[in-house]
Amino acid sequence: MSYLEITQEEPAEATDGVWLTCIECGEHFPPFAGIRYTCDECEGLLEVRYADLPTFADFGDDESAFHGGVWRYSDALPFDEGVSLPEGDTPLHNVPRLEDEIGVERLRVKHEGMNPTGSFKDRGMTVGVRVAQAVGVDRLACASTGNTSAALSAYGSRAGLEVLVLLPAGKVAAGKIAQASLHGARILEVDGNFDRCLDIVKDLADRGEAYLLNSLNPFRLEGQKTIGLEIMEQFMAEEGDFPDRIVLPVGNAGNTAALYKAFRELEATGAIDEDQIPKITGVQAEGSAPMVEAIEEGWDHIERWDDVETKATAIRIGNPVNAPKALPGVRETGGTAVAVTDAEITDAQRSLAEEGVGVEPASAASIAGLRKLREEGVVDTDEQVVCLTTGHLLKDPDAAAEAGTDPEPVPADTDDVLDHLRS
Ligand SMILES: Cc1ncc(COP(=O)(O)O)c(C=O)c1O
Ligand SMILES: [Zn+2]
Repeated sequence: MSYLEITQEEPAEATDGVWLTCIECGEHFPPFAGIRYTCDECEGLLEVRYADLPTFADFGDDESAFHGGVWRYSDALPFDEGVSLPEGDTPLHNVPRLEDEIGVERLRVKHEGMNPTGSFKDRGMTVGVRVAQAVGVDRLACASTGNTSAALSAYGSRAGLEVLVLLPAGKVAAGKIAQASLHGARILEVDGNFDRCLDIVKDLADRGEAYLLNSLNPFRLEGQKTIGLEIMEQFMAEEGDFPDRIVLPVGNAGNTAALYKAFRELEATGAIDEDQIPKITGVQAEGSAPMVEAIEEGWDHIERWDDVETKATAIRIGNPVNAPKALPGVRETGGTAVAVTDAEITDAQRSLAEEGVGVEPASAASIAGLRKLREEGVVDTDEQVVCLTTGHLLKDPDAAAEAGTDPEPVPADTDDVLDHLRS
């Protein structure tokens, strides 16, 4: 039994119409009194719930508050305003050549790399750091494959709070470390993979040493939910319809869980019908694919992979903590999950770059996965698809340089340059 159904019946634990519900045992908790990331009773994952959920018409209608990007959806969030840089309102690119080549009716690319620190994590942090202020903590922490640390460092600094980030040594792309560094975080390079970093940061949080801002924190996913809300609004405005399918890279499965929650909430208010929920389709790298394994095997849990490897370091994760929310999300929406090779990821990164869309390797997994599912006939030619690209090209300059053309040294002379071009 799981408690993923959205109910708007307010329990005694609610504050201003907001509370936490355990998805495993259904227990309710107050949202901001005390710090908890999982259920006190059974350690199940928590979800934020609301007594009064909005429909599309409610979004952006409150003129008293700041309503750009993520905070346009404040009626679906626990606060009216957050620590904002601002974030969200990312482009939904047309990619006509890729659309033709892959062979679907419509393909749009939602480029989350256009957020202030260059990834979707900003959407989660604008809400998560606001909650940290509400519960009254002064040290924030996360484990990270890189992007979470960049976002937390920026938003934590903005809020004037201390930031601690735990990174797997040698496995984080250069741009991301540079961001955490310049924003002034304490950076701990752990001799272990991301999953070990998360084990440690959870221990630190349990001992009261820091406020945890990984996607285990249910408030982060509230911000990330706005990716789904934005896609539905943009696609409807520009295509006159909702998309049939959303394809996204999966690491800790936070976005997979967040999209599913966005759609369950829209359905609960009658804003969309069940058959209008896009099929949530996850993509992992072959060397790091516990979610794909669980979907293929029909399991209701994932089995942790201790050894993971992929050049898409952002999704080099062997123990997706949000799996109990994400697996039902994939299954209940009629989606699927697929693994792609590093070579397929690089090909997709180049294909996106040819369309002018620069992304980091993990992001290109969505296109690589769609390409594979189309070839296998799992995705039909008549589908309207949105691929999520989660991080900017400049996050991983080494991977970009490796995938792209090499610089050619030439003498500082026009004739020599021309000779070189003609040779
Ligand atoms: C660029 C990028 N893509 C995808 C992911 C995976 O996201 P999620 O943990 O929501 O599955 C991450 C974060 O780990 C990331 O940084
Ligand atoms: Zn519980």
